[in-house]
Amino acid sequence: MSNKRFYIETYGCQMNFADTEVVNSILMEDGMDPVQTAEEADIIFVNTCSIRENAETRVWNRLKEFRSLKDEKRDLTVGVMGCMAERIKDKIIEQEKLVDIVVGPDAYREIPNLLKEVDDGRKAVNVLLSLEETYADITPVRTSGNGVTAFVSIMRGCDNMCAFCVVPFTRGRERSRPMSSILSEVKQLSDQGYKEVTLLGQNVNSYNYEDIDFTRLMDEASKVDPEMRFRFSSPHPKDFPEPLLHLIAERPNLCNYIHIPAQAGSDTMLERMRRPYTREQYLTLIDKMRDIIPGVSLSTDIITGFCDETEEEHEATMSLMKIVGYDLAYMFAYSERERTLAHRKYEDNVPEDVKKRRLSQIIEQQMNIQEQINNNEVGKRHLVLIEGTSKRSDEQLAGRTDTNKMVIIDKKDFRKGDYVEVIITGNTSATLFGDPVKKSSIAEFYENRELVAS
Ligand code: SAH
Ligand code: SF4
Ligand code: F3S
Repeated sequence: MSNKRFYIETYGCQMNFADTEVVNSILMEDGMDPVQTAEEADIIFVNTCSIRENAETRVWNRLKEFRSLKDEKRDLTVGVMGCMAERIKDKIIEQEKLVDIVVGPDAYREIPNLLKEVDDGRKAVNVLLSLEETYADITPVRTSGNGVTAFVSIMRGCDNMCAFCVVPFTRGRERSRPMSSILSEVKQLSDQGYKEVTLLGQNVNSYNYEDIDFTRLMDEASKVDPEMRFRFSSPHPKDFPEPLLHLIAERPNLCNYIHIPAQAGSDTMLERMRRPYTREQYLTLIDKMRDIIPGVSLSTDIITGFCDETEEEHEATMSLMKIVGYDLAYMFAYSERERTLAHRKYEDNVPEDVKKRRLSQIIEQQMNIQEQINNNEVGKRHLVLIEGTSKRSDEQLAGRTDTNKMVIIDKKDFRKGDYVEVIITGNTSATLFGDPVKKSSIAEFYENRELVAS
């Protein structure tokens, strides 16, 4: 009999995408083969996200589609993994025929056993959270992706308990992965030709393994391969380490880009959200970032319409975003999640139309800011790492600057994985267009830039 074929469809954040690669590895070790579409598969997993209502709705709709596939293909197995697992566990009894397996983020090693239970005609569920699991000994298998940029998970869970956020409940307590296992994964990626790694955790500044902190980890990781770029996501503004800023400023392969979620712009709202910093502390941190890393590019996450949000608080968020002038922002309307502090103690009382209006206001302002920032990029020189062909044309390539901006260039003789020196010639609010000068490297580009500067 041929091997069983599996397909994993992934929703949610980068952590979930990294987990899918861990599960690829577990299933392939067990003798299964990955396929690229649901139709070809004997086993379908949906790696789910609970962060907002619409994320869950998308998954439910998708599961219903798979349900009709099951009607055609009697022995098709459908599993739910990831952050919705805990919640779906209860509904699985009502929704009898929708899913066969439910597996939470800390139970992926159990999947082969769970599949056997299903073969024996049972429903299989394991949503236990763990205090230790980091999958440190499992080498993720990257079955999709561009072969140039990779995510490496450095910790799991979150202890922060922001009032709006479901993650501490879906992913459990915070724990860090041993540095040695992170570094060996980075080395392996470098040997395989990867050029960029993003280190992932829900709150990377609290990385701590045997007294090794996040700054030390970044230091060691970036020394593994000086021609490999490093990014990280996400740090928390409450305890951002200043030594890391100096390290980023000094080390050419640590990208001059920081995602630093603000969530809101007023002290009253930050307090209600249980984000333990003030507007002033946040702005001081931003000043420090810009001081220590000239030209640093910044992005953020913002929630609009959280419980009791007043018009003044909304204006304060608008003004914070204007003062900082983010290069990029992820903006969301608040969506109440069960089990969170907000669900237990507050009222989701900002009317839907007000949430929507406030969200459009911050989006509109942000688009204008981005347009201006990107206009100023014209004429500048950047080192662009080519990630692949442009979506719009086969004759063009797409890559990103160190500052995380997408750049489109003509293909010429360049290819995926090349570092190309580019002069920016045009832009929209989301994308830059450039003229390629020549193939380059991190070492060459930064040496020349220092010569020009001095
Ligand atoms: N750990 C990461 C965030 C992960 S969730 C961090 O703290 O940076 C990504 C973003 O989703 C959050 O930063 C927040 O802006 C948003 N988010 C979280 N819960 C939400 C909710 N209930 N409604 C709307 N947006 C939410
Ligand atoms: Fe959620 Fe806050 Fe943890 Fe981020 S830091 S995952 S927003 S609880
Ligand atoms: Fe979603 Fe879970 Fe990530 S809820 S945002 S997939 S941690």
